[in-house]
Amino acid sequence: MVKKFRLGTPFDTKAVTANIKSERISAFPLDLTQGERCVVMFSIEKNDMIFGLGEAVRGINKRGWVYESWCSDETEHTEDKRALYGAHNFIIVSGKKKFGLFVDFPGKIEWDLGYSKPSEVRITLDGNNADFYYIDGDSERDIVKQFRKIIGKSYIPPFWAFGYQQSCWGYSKQSDFTAVRDKHRKNNLPLDCIYMDIDYMERFKDFTVNKELFPDFKSFVSDMRAHNIHLIPIIDAGVKKEEGYPVYDEGHEKGYFCKNADSTDFECGVWPGTVGLPDFLNKNAREWFGSQYKYLTDMGIDGFWNDMNEPALFYSKTGLEKAKEKLKDIYTKEIDIWNYFGMRDALARIQNSMDDYSSFYHNVDGELVCHKDVHNLYGAFMTNSAGEYFEREFGKEKILIFSRASYIGAHRTSGIWFGDNYSWWSHILLNLKMLPSVNMCGFLYCGADIGGFNNNVTGDLLLRWLAIGVFTPLMRNHRALGTRAQEAYQFDNTQDFADVLAVRYRLIPYIYKTFRRCADEGDMMFRPLAFDYPDDKLACEVEDQLMLGEECMIAPVYEQNKSGRTVYLPEPMTFVKLSGANITSEKLGKGIHYVEVALNEVPLFIKENKKIPLAKPALNTAELNTENLTYI
Ligand code: GLC
Repeated sequence: MVKKFRLGTPFDTKAVTANIKSERISAFPLDLTQGERCVVMFSIEKNDMIFGLGEAVRGINKRGWVYESWCSDETEHTEDKRALYGAHNFIIVSGKKKFGLFVDFPGKIEWDLGYSKPSEVRITLDGNNADFYYIDGDSERDIVKQFRKIIGKSYIPPFWAFGYQQSCWGYSKQSDFTAVRDKHRKNNLPLDCIYMDIDYMERFKDFTVNKELFPDFKSFVSDMRAHNIHLIPIIDAGVKKEEGYPVYDEGHEKGYFCKNADSTDFECGVWPGTVGLPDFLNKNAREWFGSQYKYLTDMGIDGFWNDMNEPALFYSKTGLEKAKEKLKDIYTKEIDIWNYFGMRDALARIQNSMDDYSSFYHNVDGELVCHKDVHNLYGAFMTNSAGEYFEREFGKEKILIFSRASYIGAHRTSGIWFGDNYSWWSHILLNLKMLPSVNMCGFLYCGADIGGFNNNVTGDLLLRWLAIGVFTPLMRNHRALGTRAQEAYQFDNTQDFADVLAVRYRLIPYIYKTFRRCADEGDMMFRPLAFDYPDDKLACEVEDQLMLGEECMIAPVYEQNKSGRTVYLPEPMTFVKLSGANITSEKLGKGIHYVEVALNEVPLFIKENKKIPLAKPALNTAELNTENLTYI
């Protein structure tokens, strides 16, 4: 049962779609202290576990660390971090008492989940207007389903978005894209999408295409489509300040950019240089920005990724001025070690600074709202602006859209990707751990940058990562400018890559069907073992395996130089290895096993009396035969 408790007059975040009458706040079952900052507290027993918070670092069981809901352009997803790009304010406490808690509050929240005191949870809101949803249920999965029911159905992308996708910050000219397409084909590597990062634009201006690089973009898009490749351009939140650029001029004239306290446009520096930030919290600005995508959809584009929408601010005008003053002051002194650090930090600290986030305003139905108080909605509302436009213009399931920043509610109009990870083995595991947590919050279409965004990849790391990517709805290989090339054909053992990618296409009918069912039923595609085997202590503590759908368990190899791994089976299962068109299988009993997995194999564990469909391998979703299926 879901109970709602309202504190003060909360901002309408649009996260919850169900109409729930609020109970008296005095009846809220957890300890609640009101003040300038509202604090929710409750005690936890020794063995209680805490799940949720969506996109975050550390374990599936989140207990023992302090997290923050604060959408952040975080370039290093290391364990010391508290916040990443999404603000997903939902947790489930699982012990003798089980309950779910959604804190619908768009400002900053600190979640101290047994960090300061191991037996205490302390949730501090940077404000005192919020809705709390308290959910009782029989099981964790039941609580998730009840939660998902009140926040509305998850976004479903077009079918082809389940194909394999290649991205790289650095593809710029037409021949870069055709080469990627042709080299995949030549090496028997399947592919459905190629991503266009910021370089396709004219001076990084949203809704422009560089005419020198793409003299006839429309024909190029249609030529790629004739080869069954979808081109997916990036759209950044900031709109370049440039006179004569119609998007900027119109946004400026109509007052659609976020404002300083003196009503001038707030300006900051991102990839294009100085930009205006569209005021996505202003309904008219939102509709205006959404309709700009038409420029690209008119040319045949049917997929987008929205980026830098935390919003990421490299610097603001004021921030830069302050840093310059500080530097000038330091220059007058003798440089010792502390002044050296001061110089270094003067510039580093102005990026994504709280001073800036506190200094600009949104126009919400005529009322000025400070950005800091609604920060976590910015990216979500950007993506809603696009998603809502696409649904109006094209209907559901026609356009692919996913975002970097998000808040619960955006799961109805888009997917998410997990941002700028590294080519680190530990990030394969982090990818796995985020899956159930974001699923709980409604985000089903999701995935990490396979192979890692930052740093240099190695062939074995990429293969192991792909072997988990095979199961994630968004299966995209992406890397940063200047890092080692990581397309599947860059390595000597290309056949190994073809073997793993073939498995994705064999599994698409199963993954797609499971995805749709989970969207329809408000279910999770990926679940911690603790949700399915709550009485099995070993299963509850597993942090590197997940249940997938009703049928399977996944347990990838995620360590360097390993020819296999140890796996825990909470019940007897069939251990299947898929590679290209080959399948081997072996029955294993409940308990701990060591299983060998070669680099070109995808391991999968299927429960007894369950079967999963397999298609024949294909080179893209258009050529995939989804009717003629065999079963394992
Ligand atoms: C951001 C994005 C990344 C993209 C880059 C350049 O870092 O997270 O995916 O490649 O910007 O646009």
